[in-house]
This record gives sequence, C-alpha cells and structure tokens, in this order.
Amino acid sequence: MGPSRVFLAVPFLLIAVAPVYGLVNGADSTLESVPDLEKVMYLNVESYPCVRLLNLSGEIGCSNPGTDKISAPIVRLKSSTSPLARPSTVLLQSEQMQDFFLRVSTDPEFSKNIAGVLLEPSETVNMSSGFSPAEKFPQAAFAPYSNTSYEWNLPGSGIMWNRYDFPVFLLTKESTSTLKEVSETNEGSPENVAEFDLVMQTTKVGTHDSETCLKEQTCLPLGGYSVWSSLPPINISSVPTKPIILAVASLDSASFFRDRSLGADSPISGLIALLTAVDALSHVNHLKKLKKQFVFAAFTGEAWGYLGSRKFLQELDLGSDSVKGLDSSMIEQILEMGSVGKGLVESGTLFYAHAAGELSGTKGTLKALEDASESLGSDNVKVKKASTLNPGIPPSSLMPFLRKNTSTSGVVLGDFDSHFTNKFYHSHLDNASNIKTSSVAAAAALVARALYILANGDATLDLMALNDIKVNVSLVEELVGCFLTCEPGLSCELVRRYISPIYGDCPSHYVGVFQDTPSATEKPSYVDDTSRFLWNFLADMTSESRDGTGSCTGECGNVGDMCIGAEIEGGGKCVVSTTRYVPAYSTRLRYENNIWHVLPANPTDSMESVDPVWTESFWNTIGLRVYKVESALYDRLVLAGGVIVTFASYLAVVVTRTYLAKAIKRD
Ligand SMILES: *[C@@H]1O[C@H](CO)[C@@H](O)[C@H](O)[C@H]1NC(C)=O
Ligand SMILES: *[C@@H]1O[C@H](CO)[C@@H](O)[C@H](O)[C@H]1NC(C)=O
Ligand SMILES: *[C@@H]1O[C@H](CO)[C@@H](O)[C@H](O)[C@H]1NC(C)=O
Ligand SMILES: *[C@@H]1O[C@H](CO)[C@@H](O)[C@H](O)[C@H]1NC(C)=O
Ligand SMILES: *[C@@H]1O[C@H](CO)[C@@H](O)[C@H](O)[C@H]1NC(C)=O
Ligand SMILES: *[C@@H]1O[C@H](CO)[C@@H](O)[C@H](O)[C@H]1NC(C)=O
Ligand SMILES: *[C@@H]1O[C@H](CO)[C@@H](O)[C@H](O)[C@H]1NC(C)=O
Repeated sequence: MGPSRVFLAVPFLLIAVAPVYGLVNGADSTLESVPDLEKVMYLNVESYPCVRLLNLSGEIGCSNPGTDKISAPIVRLKSSTSPLARPSTVLLQSEQMQDFFLRVSTDPEFSKNIAGVLLEPSETVNMSSGFSPAEKFPQAAFAPYSNTSYEWNLPGSGIMWNRYDFPVFLLTKESTSTLKEVSETNEGSPENVAEFDLVMQTTKVGTHDSETCLKEQTCLPLGGYSVWSSLPPINISSVPTKPIILAVASLDSASFFRDRSLGADSPISGLIALLTAVDALSHVNHLKKLKKQFVFAAFTGEAWGYLGSRKFLQELDLGSDSVKGLDSSMIEQILEMGSVGKGLVESGTLFYAHAAGELSGTKGTLKALEDASESLGSDNVKVKKASTLNPGIPPSSLMPFLRKNTSTSGVVLGDFDSHFTNKFYHSHLDNASNIKTSSVAAAAALVARALYILANGDATLDLMALNDIKVNVSLVEELVGCFLTCEPGLSCELVRRYISPIYGDCPSHYVGVFQDTPSATEKPSYVDDTSRFLWNFLADMTSESRDGTGSCTGECGNVGDMCIGAEIEGGGKCVVSTTRYVPAYSTRLRYENNIWHVLPANPTDSMESVDPVWTESFWNTIGLRVYKVESALYDRLVLAGGVIVTFASYLAVVVTRTYLAKAIKRD
C-alpha cells in the first residue's frame, strides 16, 4: 500500500480523488500536473524524528526495518494494553509513551504490528508523575564509585536506550490537531494512512555497530566543540604560576527525539548560571591581584559518554594547542554548575553542594559557598551539603575528573539532594516552563561570589568588592529566551551581536555529529551555533579591554588578540582574551586518511573500556506525510468497473460494426 498504487490509479481516480484530498488542506484549484496532484493528496506533517544511533556493540533509537517507505493506517490506541489487529501507525499520547515502549520491548506479538508511532506533545495532560526516557542512573559506568544501582533519576524508564524497528515522530501542536481530525474520522473508506519516508537508511543492512559503519563511512561520531576561557587572560609566553579555580557546566542534552533536546533544567540552567556569573565577575576590578586564576569551561557531548570533559583531560595530558596556557596540575578546585533551575523553596532558594575528592580542598569550596550565601543576606540563597547517604556525586562532568585523578577536589552545585528534582530529565518536556529564572539567577549570584572568595585565597577578603558582585537578572532572562525558546531563540539580540546562526531560530542542545576534520589549528572550520556563541560571548566577557580595538574579519595582529563577532556584518573587533575551542569526541577515535578509526581501549584509562563510542547514521530525507487511500475493495470495484466498461465498449463496437456492415450491405 504505497503511493505508487495511488499514482497508477491516477487516470482512473482523478475525479474521485480531487474532492477527497481537497478536504485535507482546503485546496480546490484545478490540478494540472502530477506534482500539483501530489501537493493536494499529501499532507506533510511537521514533526521531530527519533533517530538511529550506534555504539561499539549495538544500536539504539528508531528506524524503518527495510529500505522502503512505510505506510499504514493511523489508529489511536485506547490504552497502552489494547491489542493491534493489523499493521498500524499508532497515535499516542504523552502519558502512554513510557508504558507503550516498555510493552514494545517485551511483547513481540504487539510490536510486529507497529508500522510507526506518532506522539502527541502533552498540553493539558497530567504528567505529574514525571517522564524521563533516560536511565535511573544515567551513564553509571563512568561513576567514580561502585554503587551503580543507585537511582538518581527516579522516573527514568530507559526507553531511549532500546532499539526500535519502526519510525517514531513527535508531533507539534499544529500537526497534532490535524492528525486528531484524521484519526477520529478514520473508519471505513477512504482511510487515512501515514507514510514514513526513509529514516536512517544509509547504513548497510547488517551494519549494527560503530566500528563497522565508520569503516563503511555511513555514520559519523557524535561530538562538537567545547569552549574554555580564562579570567583575566593568561599570558601564554610566561610560565603559569597561579593555581586554577575551574568552573564548569555542560552545554548538551539528550532526548528521545533528536531535535527536541532542550534540556532546560539539565543542563542548560547550569550553563546560563555560569555565563551570568562570568559576566558578574568580569566587572570586578583588580582581578590580576587575586591569588588564583579563574578558568571557565562549557563541555559538549557530556550526555553521550562525557565526550567533552574526557577529551579536555586528554588534551591537557598531551599539552595540545587547544589548552595552551593550562596545566592540569595547577587545577586546585572544580566547581560544577549542575541543574539549578528548580531551587525555589518557600523561604527563597536552596541548593545542594555535592562534594567529592580530596577533603581539605572540598572543605574550602563548601566554606566559600556558605560565606557567599551569607553575604547575599536578604536575597536568601541557601546552600546545604548533600546527604552523606548518597553514594557519591550525581552524574556530572566532575565524574571523569575524579576517575582521572582521585585527589581532584570538586563540588557539583544542584537543585536536588538525593534524587533529581527535575521530573523530565533528558526528555522533550524539560523546556523553559520547567525552570524559574529567579532560581538560575540566585545560583549565579551564589557561585560568582563563591568563586571570588576562592580566588582570593587566604588573603583578607575585600568585603566591598564582594558585595559589589551582582548578577544581571535581565541577562538570565535573555539567555533563557535565546537557548530555550523558539521565539526569539537564537535570533535574540544577544546572540546576533556575536554570530549569525546557521540552523534556524529554534535551539536544540543535542550534541550532533563531529563534522570537522580534527586538526591542530585553533580555528576549526565547522562549529555549531551554541559553541560559536559561547566562544564569542566568553571572549568578550573575559577580555582585557572591553572596548576592543580595530575591526577584523578573522585574524588580529597581536599574539593573544582574538577577533570576536567576525561573522557579523560590519566586522568584529579585536580583544585580548584567552578563549579556545577544544574538540569533543570519543578519545577512542582517531581520524586518519580521511576516515575515523576506533582505537583499542587504553589500559591506563579505565573510562575508555566503558566508552560506548556513539555514532549517528547518515540519513536522507526524514519526513512524514499523511494521505488517504481507498480500501482494497473499492479499488477492486473500480478495476471491475473498468473491465466491464472496456468489455461493454468492445461489445458495443463489435455490435455497432456488425449492425452497420449489415445496414450498408442492405443498401
Ligand atoms: C513546555 O512543555 C509543556 C508540555 O508539553 C507545554 O505545555 C508548555 O507550553 C511548554 N513550555 C514552553 C515554554 O514551551
Ligand atoms: C495528576 O495525577 C496525580 C496522580 O497520578 C494526581 O494525584 C493529581 O491530582 C493529578 N493532577 C491533576 C491536575 O489532574
Ligand atoms: C546503593 O545505594 C542505595 C541507597 O543508598 C542502597 O540502598 C544500596 O544498598 C546500595 N547498593 C550497594 C550495592 O551498595
Ligand atoms: C607576557 O610574558 C612575557 C614573558 O614573561 C613578557 O615579556 C610580556 O610582556 C608579557 N605580556 C603581557 C601582555 O603581559
Ligand atoms: C592529582 O591531583 C593532585 C591535586 O590536584 C595533584 O597534586 C597530582 O599531581 C595529580 N596527580 C596526577 C597523577 O596528575
Ligand atoms: C543586563 O543584561 C541586559 C541583557 O543582556 C543588558 O541589556 C543590560 O545592559 C545589562 N545590564 C548591565 C548593568 O550590564
Ligand atoms: C550499546 O548499545 C546497546 C544497545 O542498546 C547496549 O546494550 C550496550 O550496553 C551499549 N554499549 C555500551 C558500551 O554502552
């Protein structure tokens, strides 16, 4: 039952078809060509796909089973336990999703009749029990402790980590209402069917792991670019002498649907708080007099095996250009901004400090956070040490740092104690409505002051300077608009000041694939919008003279000068800053002779043996459209009608000819 059948039937059905399809999108113009006809017949449905990802030992995500298009009638499942009598496209509500996919994985009779799934976004439905397709302990294999059965993410069902042999699409608000109409009238004939275009079709049949598809060049590794910056800029020509206070956040999220991975609370709230804290600290005078050096880092690929932080650590070991000026032995403290968007409590805001590593170091950080909280006085931003019953730190970029060197000391700041408060961890529902800007701003204020106290070391604290550190709440609001909404999204004024976004306005924080060829240069040729914005923003915030000198389109003359806003019309400006991109992809991959190779796990790095090495298959069009087909019975009637008409005309011709011949003879 493909469109080919409809096309074959076109000469026959043209008249019958036009009014029927006209109904769907209200077009009633005359049809002049096949593309015209196709336009009225098919309703392209706006939607977001679940895609196929591969790792070293298997696959996850969704794909058509073969290389053909699939179409099947759309039905609504009454409950997640109802049976399916024939191949169907299932229209599913958000609350049903978890049970449905768990059933698919255990009930082969049921799953064999699923041709595809369309998920309605939840509008008014009750999702109070939470929804998370991630595991209960996300990426447990990287934990620096052994209790990996601990449940950080209580609603986690893990459905995202299974393999499905049918396409799954998340509908938008608009497409849902269209499809609702379609499914409600879907009884009898003509029937509405959904047709799924090729989804993830370019890996060869029989290719089921990363190593094979990389060899065949039908996939690319997940990855991108992390960004780090120092405040004040580091003089690369001289030997670094100051200990480093490293503040980090992640910039990528994950979800069942590739391009619907906003990750508002986890992890973007932490990233926004970090950027706002950098802005606040950049206004402090005499930063050079502080005993310690601030370094800020935003890692990408953290949701897929901590790609960003692990590659950063590897580059530090190798002393690569991308980390020139940094020295891992100088890193004294790490403060990570975890999820901080849901810290509101009755009396104000409350965050939890999850500490790990060398005790004297973490004590200092905890003390700094407490002092910072006190200095904020009536703003009522409280911080508590996380429960000692927790097995250790929650899933975070700090994990790879601790695995690498157990005497690293670090703290993860979060809005939760023993279990995530974010009920929508790594799901499409973790959007801007899931967080409060006041919570993010409070975290930024707390961290900006705590970092200042840490960098001041044991010198007497300049209380005036400390109390002058204030966060810009409108900056938090603006960043929420830029990173977490479609309007304005990446076309917000702040982002436009630095870059011209390549990928539309609607942001997504899925890591994407590493499209660049890794090289040692400081100027990568392909960097995604978010990382490019971060590089420019951080370079501007941490630059020595904020006025900038000279206009530029790429290079600046002096060593240590950087050209920010280069892609903006009218050119950018040169500033003195130490801000760099660091590639983020699996440390087990090497690019050689234009091809990615999987390296054997390095026995000295215990994380390499658990690295899944995720790759994403290439894909052609990913699309979904809906059209009507007549039932087989109707088709057979039409065919029979055609045959009868043909036969009757033949008979008529014969009879007429005989009659005429006779008549002529008689004359
Ligand atoms: C967030 O998702 C919920 C559930 O789908 C929706 O009702 C709400 O409008 C969304 N909020 C934003 C800001 O997109
Ligand atoms: C949502 O469901 C929970 C239990 O599943 C129930 O306690 C709660 O009252 C419901 N909320 C609404 C608004 O229906
Ligand atoms: C893991 O932690 C949980 C909660 O703290 C505890 O109940 C469980 O016994 C621990 N498991 C192991 C193997 O230590
Ligand atoms: C950087 O350090 C070098 C060597 O110590 C020194 O000559 C140079 O003046 C310094 N540059 C700046 C901008 O401080
Ligand atoms: C581990 O970290 C500590 C504290 O930062 C440092 O002194 C030590 O040299 C590091 N060890 C290794 C092997 O890098
Ligand atoms: C605060 O941020 C907003 C939005 O980015 C900006 O327009 C404003 O100038 C900032 N205010 C200060 C005092 O820096
Ligand atoms: C790779 O994916 C498969 C399929 O989901 C899973 O069973 C396996 O554990 C994954 N491998 C790693 C190393 O994560």
